[in-house]
Order: sequence, then structure tokens, then C-alpha cells
Amino acid sequence: MTDWNSLYATRMDGVIASDIRERMKLLDASQLIHLGGGLPDPDIFPYRALSDASAAIWADATLARTALQYAPSEGYAPLRAWIAARMARDGAPCTIDNIMITNGSQQGLDFIAKLLLSPGDKAMVEIPSFIGALRAFDAYQPDYMALPQDSRDWQADRLSGAKFCYVGPDFRNPTGTTMTLAEREALLDLAEETGMALVEDGCYQALRYDGEPISSLLALAVRRHGDINRVPVLHTGTFSKTVAPSLRVGWVAGPADVIRKLVLIKQASDLATSAFNQMLLLRVVEQGLDAAVALGCRTYRERRDSMLEALREAMPERVGWTRPDGGLYIWVELPEDIDASLFAQRALAEHSVSIIAGAAFFPAGTQDMPGYRNSFRLSFSMIDAQRAREGILRIGDLARQMMPSAKSRQSVAAVTTTSSA
Ligand SMILES: Cc1ncc(COP(=O)(O)O)c(C=O)c1O
Repeated sequence: MTDWNSLYATRMDGVIASDIRERMKLLDASQLIHLGGGLPDPDIFPYRALSDASAAIWADATLARTALQYAPSEGYAPLRAWIAARMARDGAPCTIDNIMITNGSQQGLDFIAKLLLSPGDKAMVEIPSFIGALRAFDAYQPDYMALPQDSRDWQADRLSGAKFCYVGPDFRNPTGTTMTLAEREALLDLAEETGMALVEDGCYQALRYDGEPISSLLALAVRRHGDINRVPVLHTGTFSKTVAPSLRVGWVAGPADVIRKLVLIKQASDLATSAFNQMLLLRVVEQGLDAAVALGCRTYRERRDSMLEALREAMPERVGWTRPDGGLYIWVELPEDIDASLFAQRALAEHSVSIIAGAAFFPAGTQDMPGYRNSFRLSFSMIDAQRAREGILRIGDLARQMMPSAKSRQSVAAVTTTSSA
């Protein structure tokens, strides 16, 4: 019999199944209160617009032929032009040569890592970081470097040597926090001083509920250099959170030379993203992406507010959490002596509440970093306010049960902007 284990490539060494997903299979899903996963709410998908767009494509023989044919590897030109115009509106003037369509922005992250990382190269990431990005990078066997949380520590002499630094400046997954304008400028300085590239994940950029938008790293870099073809930034975008994830349409924007290299990777990987999905998407966004985004923002803002309210009501003292201005996530920090993995296991087994323990968002070898053991991620994206409140009340009780003795309480600090106190 074939010993498959002896055949797997070394890049599979660190790849493991998610514990929490395995455990969830054991439970009746309808009983579960899902506070962990960050799927967009299907109630806000634009069903009518998609159905009309689909009918219009099939009704036109020329469009229908294009829709069923292989698309160009760089993507359907009219959609690239729409994205280029949108990027220009958002401060990063570019042409279609600066845009490549990908199967979701996840594919963009994978291709960028494939383009830039040889085994043993250094990849700098924020810690914690989006799991999907870490898993994509893992396959290219980098050594991870942490981007320090405090921008005063972003000094070129201490942080050189990385091929790129991956960041999610707006409403990060998993913490929900946002990089200030000054931090963005400082990161661009660091990139220029060290010669590394910046990979900017723009997944949640459109989902802002409070405050004024902050220019993307790409826009700031174009302003500095006067031309997108000279910037050190690759920006990944997606329609997954604003239209629908199943269409799997995202993009990479950056210097045309780099985009051409990425297109070679796309050709070797899957040839092209579905022409039909790209055409469908273009029709929907031409009819009004802003209205779809506004609906999403209204829905998610209310859910965020209810979840924050429930946290204030339910959580014992010394539990801290972030207050995101957008996106889908809240990051909770327990006192240091509560193990968040055990907390997540008990939340699931005893209270039928699923949350994701923070360790999942840390790259291998970073278990000594703050937050690794005692934090977890919540998402308010797919759950109505009442059920979310019920879930938070249950885990609030659990936190109280697991609270360490009063003696050890002094050492614990709350995370970022808000605490229950
Ligand atoms: C930060 C971040 N980046 C990228 C993605 C990938 O999204 P998609 O491939 O659907 O565009 C996600 C998905 O949740 C995400 O949270």
C-alpha cells in the first residue's frame, strides 16, 4: 500500500486541520451560537441584481459566448477598468495594466507569496494576523518576523531583511483595529528604508461604520511617488464582503511589471477567473455598489453596537475588547491566567457557543507573544442581535467561572480602546 505520508512535500509539514471546525462537526449546528466565523450575512447579498444581471447576459448571444469562454488570465477587461476607476476615486490613479483579477483576494495573497518567497525568506506580519494569509504564506516556508505593534519600534536597522510586510490597515481580521494615518506613513518610510514590499489587504476597507476613511497604503504611496508603477505596495481587494463571496472575484493592484509576473502565476495555476462571474459582478457593481455597501454597513453597524453593548453587560472586570470602526470582528482579551483555548473548548462543549481562540491567528513559533494564550475573536457578521447577546451572556458567565483568584488579579491589563470596567 502507498505510504502517502512519505510522499507529501515538506511544505505540508505545518498544515493542520482547525480544531474548532472538527469539534463543531460533533454538535448539532442549529443549537450553536456562532460568534467565531466571519462569513458575510446572506441576507444582504444582492439576489435581485444578480438575477437580473444573469438574465441579461444569457439574453445576449455575444455576451453569453464571452461568459462561457475562458477569460484572459489578467481578468475581464471591463471589470479591470471599473476597478481601476474605483481605485483612482480612492486616491490611487491607475490603469487596467495595474489590476489583475483573482479568485478572491485569498488567491492574490497566495500568488504574492509565491512570487516573493523562497524557503527561509523572511516575511513580516502583524501578529495576530488573518489566518488565511498565514496559511497561504506557510506553504512557501518563510521565517516570520513580527511587525512591532508600536510604530515607534519601526526602525529600519532592527527590521530589515524581510521580503514583504503583510498588513490589514482597516478593521483588521482578527482584532478589528485600524492603522492611523501616521502609522501608514511610518510603514511606508520603513518599506522605503528597508527595501521590502508592503502587501496591503484591503478586504474590509469599504465596511466603515464610524469616522472618516483613511487613505490606503497604495494611495499614500502613489501620492509620494506620483505613479503607481513606482510604489512598493501590492494591494489586494475583494467583492466578497460587499457583493458575495461565492463569486470568488478579487483583485491585486500594483506596479504593472509586478502584475505581469503575477499573471504568469495565474496562468500556471488556474488559467483564469470565471468570465461569467466577472461579467455578473461588473453589472451588479455598475448598477450601484455604493448602495450595497451602505446596506451592509447599516446591518453590521447595528450588530457591532449590540455586541459591544452585550459585552459591557456580560463580561466581568478585567476582560478587555476592541471597539472596531468597521469590519466584522471584535478581539477579546481575558486575564492572562485564563487559557483562551480551554475557554473556547468549554464555550462550545458546555454553552454551545463557538468562538475562535486567538492562538489560531499567530504564526508558528510566536507562542510567547502577548495575547497568544488569553485572547479570542468574536464576529458579529452573521448573527442577529438577540442571539448574539445570548451567546455573549453565556460566555460572560463562563469567564466569571474561570476567573482566577483575586490574588493574581493585579497583573492583567485590558487590550485596546474599551474595557468592561
Ligand atoms: C483579511 C482577509 N483577507 C482576505 C480574505 C479572503 O477573502 P476572499 O478570498 O473571499 O476575497 C478574508 C476572508 O475572510 C479576510 O478576512
